[in-house]
Parts: sequence; structure tokens; C-alpha cells
Amino acid sequence: MSLEHAGCVVSTDAGLLDVDFICAALAGSYWARDRPRHVVEQSIRNSLCFGLYEKQGGRQVGFARVVTDGATFSWLCDVVIDGSRRGMGLGKFLMSFVVAHPQVGGTVCLLGTRDAHGLYEKFGFARSEQMRRPPSPGRPGPPCQA
Ligand SMILES: CC(C)(COP(=O)(O)OP(=O)(O)OC[C@H]1O[C@@H](n2cnc3c(N)ncnc32)[C@H](O)[C@@H]1OP(=O)(O)O)[C@@H](O)C(=O)NCCC(=O)NCCS
Repeated sequence: MSLEHAGCVVSTDAGLLDVDFICAALAGSYWARDRPRHVVEQSIRNSLCFGLYEKQGGRQVGFARVVTDGATFSWLCDVVIDGSRRGMGLGKFLMSFVVAHPQVGGTVCLLGTRDAHGLYEKFGFARSEQMRRPPSPGRPGPPCQA
């Protein structure tokens, strides 16, 4: 696994995360465009987060979030690459770190996607069917597909 790709590096250091970038990236997504900032912040606090950063300058250009018990199960979500950096292999680079992480690699990992099946299939994901319960009425957070 290479440690750098297209001038970018990956880190799970939560202190490096740029919440402004993450909120803007999610606001441009099809699954979390209405997610309030405080919900984004809470989700980050309670997840294993992967940031993708330009090596020079440290600007964040990608993000992925995993909810995991570290032993049996994990859920991958909020995978996004900055619009200016798509199509350069950075999504695959980020995913290579996600699936290699000790808290993820040894678990059954699920995700939901509208159209990026081909990306995840490169990392061993296969299509399957799960049951899904939306948040209870009045609870914060819109339904989150990805
Ligand atoms: C999806 C996304 C993370 C991929 O990152 P990227 O850096 O653009 O992708 P890469 O350059 O690493 O290449 C992705 C590979 O997966 C394939 N792929 C399959 N479905 C794809 C999709 N919906 N979008 C992008 N790539 C897709 C590409 O064809 C490419 O395959 P190749 O290497 O054989 O050419 C990025 O395009 C993005 O942020 N899109 C908007 C948010 C989004 O849809 N996130 C996924 C939610 S599940």
C-alpha cells in the first residue's frame, strides 16, 4: 500500500479534520445535503474518520467515516473527494486505507451507495440486501443512505 498518491496522504488523526470542508462536501452530496453542522460534528466524534490531505499545505480534500465495534461489524459512510480532485485515483487511495485499518479489516463492513458500487467492488464489497430502519420521528439527522 503506497503512503502517498497524487500529492496526498491519509490520516485518522481526528485533530486534523477540517469540519468546514467536511460540511461543505456533505452539503454537496446526494445523501447528507441537509445534515446540520452539529450532527456532522457529533457523527465525527463517535466515528473512526479518515481524512485525505494535500501533503503540501495540509488542505483536506477527502473524507470517509466508519462506525465500527472494531471486532465484528462496521459501517462505511460519507465517502467523498473534493470536486477538484476527483478521477485521480484518490477515492481508491482513501479506500485502501479504510479496508486495511485494524478496526475495519477484521469486521464485516457494510455500506449503502446509489451509484458507486464499482468503486467498492474493487475493495471486496459485494451487493447484498439488508433491512433498514430510519431514525425515529423527531430525532435529529436526516435519513443517511451513504
Ligand atoms: C465516489 C468518489 C468518492 C470516488 O473518488 P474518485 O477519487 O473520484 O475516484 P477514483 O479516481 O479513485 O476512481 C474510482 C474508481 O471507481 C469507479 N467508480 C464506480 N462508480 C463510481 C462513482 N459513482 N463515482 C466515481 N467513481 C466510480 C471509477 O470508474 C474508478 O474506476 P477505475 O479505476 O477502474 O477507473 C468521488 O467521485 C466522490 O466524492 N463523488 C461524490 C460523492 C459520492 O458519490 N461518494 C460516494 C458515496 S457512496
